[in-house]
Amino acid sequence: MTAPTLLVLYGSQTGTAQDTAERIGRQAQRRRLTVRVEALDSYNVANLISQSLVVFVCSTTGQGDPPDNMKNFWRFLFRKSLPAGSLCRLDCAVLGLGDSSYPKFNFVAKKLYKRLLQLGANALLPVGLADDQHDLGPDGVIDPWLVSFWQRALSLYPAPAGLSPLRDDQPLPPRYVFTFLDDITDKPPERQTPPPERQGPPSSAHPFLARMVSNQRVTDPSHFQDVRHIEFDITGSNIEFSAGDVVMMRPRNSQEDVEQFCQLLRLDPDRHFTLTPTDSSVVSVPSLLPQPCTIRCLVESFLDIAAVPRRSFFELLATFATNELEREKLSEFCSAQGQDDLFAYCNRPRRTALEVLADFPHTTAELSVDHLLDLFPEIQPRSFSIASSLLAHPNQIHILLAVVEYKTRLYKPRKGLCSSWLAGLAPTQGEVYVPLWVKKGGLKFPKDPDTPVIMVGPGTGVAPFRAAIQERISQGKTANILFFGCRSESKDFYCRAEWEEKVRAGQLTLFTAFSRDQEDKVYVQHRVREHGKLLWDLIANKNAFFYIAGNAKQMPTGVCDALKDVFRVEGSMSENEAQEMLDAMEKAGRFQSETWA
Ligand code: 2AM
Repeated sequence: MTAPTLLVLYGSQTGTAQDTAERIGRQAQRRRLTVRVEALDSYNVANLISQSLVVFVCSTTGQGDPPDNMKNFWRFLFRKSLPAGSLCRLDCAVLGLGDSSYPKFNFVAKKLYKRLLQLGANALLPVGLADDQHDLGPDGVIDPWLVSFWQRALSLYPAPAGLSPLRDDQPLPPRYVFTFLDDITDKPPERQTPPPERQGPPSSAHPFLARMVSNQRVTDPSHFQDVRHIEFDITGSNIEFSAGDVVMMRPRNSQEDVEQFCQLLRLDPDRHFTLTPTDSSVVSVPSLLPQPCTIRCLVESFLDIAAVPRRSFFELLATFATNELEREKLSEFCSAQGQDDLFAYCNRPRRTALEVLADFPHTTAELSVDHLLDLFPEIQPRSFSIASSLLAHPNQIHILLAVVEYKTRLYKPRKGLCSSWLAGLAPTQGEVYVPLWVKKGGLKFPKDPDTPVIMVGPGTGVAPFRAAIQERISQGKTANILFFGCRSESKDFYCRAEWEEKVRAGQLTLFTAFSRDQEDKVYVQHRVREHGKLLWDLIANKNAFFYIAGNAKQMPTGVCDALKDVFRVEGSMSENEAQEMLDAMEKAGRFQSETWA
């Protein structure tokens, strides 16, 4: 049988699954197969019935949920009305990307695999379960899984006769061709003017350009961490949200990085181009790129040059290397044996793609502009817990932003792309607009006005609780208990005046833990234990809900342990019973947590 078009469908939250899917796509091209790589939600699922060969690559998000760009597919696939044999013509393979430090390790891939078999599909090999914790070294899951996959797939569907496979070091044709417009009168639209009227709420494809109203540092200037309180005006946006929801933003690269990139690749940032897919049956022009577009706009707002590059970046770069030394180094980085070296070079010091290009100047100078979209993934949107309520601040969205900056062994400090971009926007020096949209978040708050809510949010973890407290107070709900932790009362106790006003008004009970204001560390969990009697009464007798949010790695476990201690001591429970009580609360939605790295 001759090979059908191989379809690689991915569900990706941060871009890793997408990158893996694209890597499989390139391997297919080298094997002379026709291949199409697509996000699950851009694919018309009904067509699966007539498909012969599909690889699914999906990640699992922290809570065991499917990534956003496969949510519709997920709902469709689990419809009860789908007949058992509906996928009996499909040969498939499922590769999951997960993290074994989370309890629901690769939950989505496992569930998808089972469901596909249930619908009659034939699995070419067992589900592959890659693990973020172990998959960077040469013993990873992905490479051996792919070897087996190609053996099985090519034995069933051999590549067309007469075409020999392309070697790994031969460049592949680019997915797009750039046509430069040297004499353009039709300039691309200014990016800072509001987009035309649209139906429905803003989305990733159609973000709302929100005016930044203020951007204020809320930690003392002497404090190590710069935390910002940022306010956006969303008047006329159609955006609605409740406490617990998140706002999404796609950051831009810095001017400095854009300039350096253009210099390294010898590109004129002001030149205009249009993009044409080399095979429009398998790729289309990204909807976020205006046509025509300038190189500056492409590099600034689309190409993710500030991220630590993935292995596929090196694989592609290696195909351009003509300089002997650079070629040797790059092909070592691409080999299975070279993965430890690659990790030490790239991931450990958090080296950016731009810095890698600067380290391989000869190869970089050889890069053809047509390959830019193959080399660099698209900048991924970032999410922030919304820190305000529409009931208290109509037409506004507030966030609390910790500006990310840290040192590695590299000379220049590492900066978080989105936080340093946002922190650098100054609404006091003219109008500043940020494209954003809103997404449902994981935290849900009770409707009943008498249900008490206990919230534990150290640091910027307090953001969703500020939204909840504002929303609940506006609705007349006053049983609000907040545990807030920070390093020092005088340096990073942000929102203090707001909390104190609500405490005075009898709308909030506040417990604080200033970890470094005394010899021994005091954390929010210490306060939870100290106020065990009150918490037990609220939870056992008044049906209280309990929430944790924040970014300290050990904090959620610390707080859970404290809460179980409260159950044991105040409720006279065994350790098992306390755990069962916590599990039951979680099942009933009375215990919720949202944590981020
Ligand atoms: P630390 O930096 O002094 O250790 C907000 O970041 C607050 O959370 C800080 O006071 C920080 O204290 C604290 N924090 C750090 N690790 C924690 C943990 N495991 N549990 C609770 N709070 C923690």
